[in-house]
Amino acid sequence: MNIKLRCQACHKEYPSSEPVWNCKCGGLLTLDFHARFPLDKILTRKPTMWRYREAFPIEHDKHIISFDEGFTPLVQEEFAGKKVLLKQDHLFPSGSYKDRGSSVLVSKIKELGVKKVVEDSSGNAGAAIAAYCAKANIACDIYVPEKTSAGKLLQIEQYGATLHKIPGTREDTAKAVWHAAQSTYYASHYWNPFFFQGTKTFVFEVVEQLGWNVPDAIILPVGNGTLLLGTYIGLKELQREKIIDELPKIIGVQAENCAPLAHAWKDHCKTSTHPSIKETIAEGIAIANPIRAKDILHAIKETNGDIITLKEIEIKNTLDYALKKGYYIEPTSAVAVAGFQKYPIRKNEVVVVPLTGHGLKTTRES
Ligand SMILES: Cc1ncc(COP(=O)(O)O)c(C=O)c1O
Ligand SMILES: [Zn+2]
Repeated sequence: MNIKLRCQACHKEYPSSEPVWNCKCGGLLTLDFHARFPLDKILTRKPTMWRYREAFPIEHDKHIISFDEGFTPLVQEEFAGKKVLLKQDHLFPSGSYKDRGSSVLVSKIKELGVKKVVEDSSGNAGAAIAAYCAKANIACDIYVPEKTSAGKLLQIEQYGATLHKIPGTREDTAKAVWHAAQSTYYASHYWNPFFFQGTKTFVFEVVEQLGWNVPDAIILPVGNGTLLLGTYIGLKELQREKIIDELPKIIGVQAENCAPLAHAWKDHCKTSTHPSIKETIAEGIAIANPIRAKDILHAIKETNGDIITLKEIEIKNTLDYALKKGYYIEPTSAVAVAGFQKYPIRKNEVVVVPLTGHGLKTTRES
């Protein structure tokens, strides 16, 4: 397999056998790898995300760390009188779509022979990395904001990870892990390009579940963009291999209280301004400075998409409505559904919305 990591800033290349997660110059790394889709083989395999084996930059099967996850149900529903396809990614083993990225990243970490990692998260990515490290017998230290939902904190600890609760904002947590990452491998869901090689399977499954067709639009919650960029990478790979022709519109959704991407989108994609940030119940997307902002905005622009913002009450109302319909999701998951309710859908438009995280992680009496 010819797999290289390339710096977006200085274009320096690294072989994938080196345990790097960013460039020596500090730049973001992109993965250069030719994914393939032998449909005859794929169709004979188990319905898990690993059925797209030739699309993963993992050399040897023996390194794969998997719970046979993925191929989550895509169910038709009606919200606000409009038809939508809900992809139930809250049903993953650790309770969020972050298992997609973690399965591939931790497999790569196993392949590298790394014995200990650090990761920071608003909760779900930390829980997912902790689960896969537990399966792989790799030690991990997870850094989270101290205000993270109790269910997520417990889950991380019970997987056997060492939990670091950091006072202050999500950015303070990122600073704390940065320090630790100078001496320990950083299994970051937003710095490490291998994570996106897992989140891309979301769209492989959607396309397969639609009979190898694309929907018209995919509406996604976006903070650091791990699902949004994974979706974009996956679509480009499917297009390159001529599995699909057109790209669907990628619509990002942010909470008005923390909407740096929405501001940049309105400001002709300028990422230099930093709008004021307030707390949001959508803790999973409370990211003030998404490091891959330029790539996220590019993906939305190229697919003729848009960014929708939501008031807290809109997120809350949609959450209550989804729960009443039997979807036990967490507040951040309600974001994409609320975005769909505001989306000006055209007649016969096929729209896919993921439910990204399970409600049991954030359960509390209201
Ligand atoms: C439930 C849930 N949905 C969506 C997201 C958004 O992911 P990202 O920050 O990668 O855009 C997260 C991130 O933690 C999450 O926990
Ligand atoms: Zn560089």
